[in-house]
Amino acid sequence: MKLLWRLLLLVLMSTKQSVAQTEDGSELAEGESAEASVVKLGVPDTRQSCAMWMGGVPGTPGHSGLPGRDGRDGLAGPKGDKGDQGQPGEKGEHGEKAEPGLPGPRGFPGTPGVQGSPGNSPASHHSAFSVGLTSPVSATNVPIRFNKVFLNEQRHYDGISGKFRCVLPGVYFFTYHFTIYPRDAKVGLYRNDRPVLFTYDQYKERDLDQASGSVLLKLQAGDEVWLQVYGEEEFSGIYSDNTNDSTFTGFLLYPDFTEENST
Ligand SMILES: *[C@@H]1O[C@H](CO)[C@@H](O)[C@H](O)[C@H]1NC(C)=O
Repeated sequence: MKLLWRLLLLVLMSTKQSVAQTEDGSELAEGESAEASVVKLGVPDTRQSCAMWMGGVPGTPGHSGLPGRDGRDGLAGPKGDKGDQGQPGEKGEHGEKAEPGLPGPRGFPGTPGVQGSPGNSPASHHSAFSVGLTSPVSATNVPIRFNKVFLNEQRHYDGISGKFRCVLPGVYFFTYHFTIYPRDAKVGLYRNDRPVLFTYDQYKERDLDQASGSVLLKLQAGDEVWLQVYGEEEFSGIYSDNTNDSTFTGFLLYPDFTEENST
C-alpha cells in the first residue's frame, strides 16, 4: 500500500514538472518577438533546478477522502432461467346441469315371444238360464218353479226344485219380470235360505201390473238362488197365461276362481 502511494506521488510530481515546462514554453511564445528572450532561453532557471535536487522526504499520505456518491443503476441483467412448475390449483365448483339430450334412435325389433299355453275351454265357463211360468203361482213361501224353459243348456237351473245351483264360482246377474194379477205381489230373491232382494207391487183393480227386479251376486260353487212369494196368499199375485209371461233369468257375468270368493 505504501509502495502504491509512493508510486502515485512520483507520477504526480512528474506530471507537475511537465506542466511547468509547458508554462515555460508559453512564456517563450510570448516573448518570441523580443531578442532578449533568445538569450534567456540559453540560461537555465537555477531556482527550479535547485528545488528539484533539494526535494525532501515525501510527506505522509493524506487521509482517505469521503466516500463518493452512489453510482447510477447498472444496465438490466440477462433473462433468468425458467422457474419450476407450480402446484395444481384447488378443484373448481360443480357446473350447472345441462339440458336433456335428444332421444336416441329407434331400437331393433325384439325376438318373438314363446307361444302361450292353451287356455281353458270356453264351454267350461258357461252358465246361463232363462225360464218362465206357464200358470199363476199359487204356493207361498216355497221356491217358485219355472217350467217354461227358454234356455238352460248347462241345466244349472233345476225346474223341479225351482232353484239355480252355482257350479262355476263367480259373479252372476239375475233378473225377473212378473205380470201381476189379480192381487198384490211380494216376491223375494233368495240365496241359501236368505232373501237378498224384494219386489212389491200393489195391485189396482181391473188393471194388469208388471213388477221386476235384478241384482249382481258373487257366488261360490254350491250356492243356490231362487225366487219365492214373501208372505201369505194375499201377496201371491204373480200371474202368467198364454200371452202374459213372468220370467226368471240368470247368467255368469265372469268367473272368479280365487280362494276368497265368499259372499
Ligand atoms: C194378457 O194379455 C192379453 C193381451 O195380450 C190380454 O188380452 C189379457 O187380458 C191379458 N191377461 C190378463 C189376465 O189380463
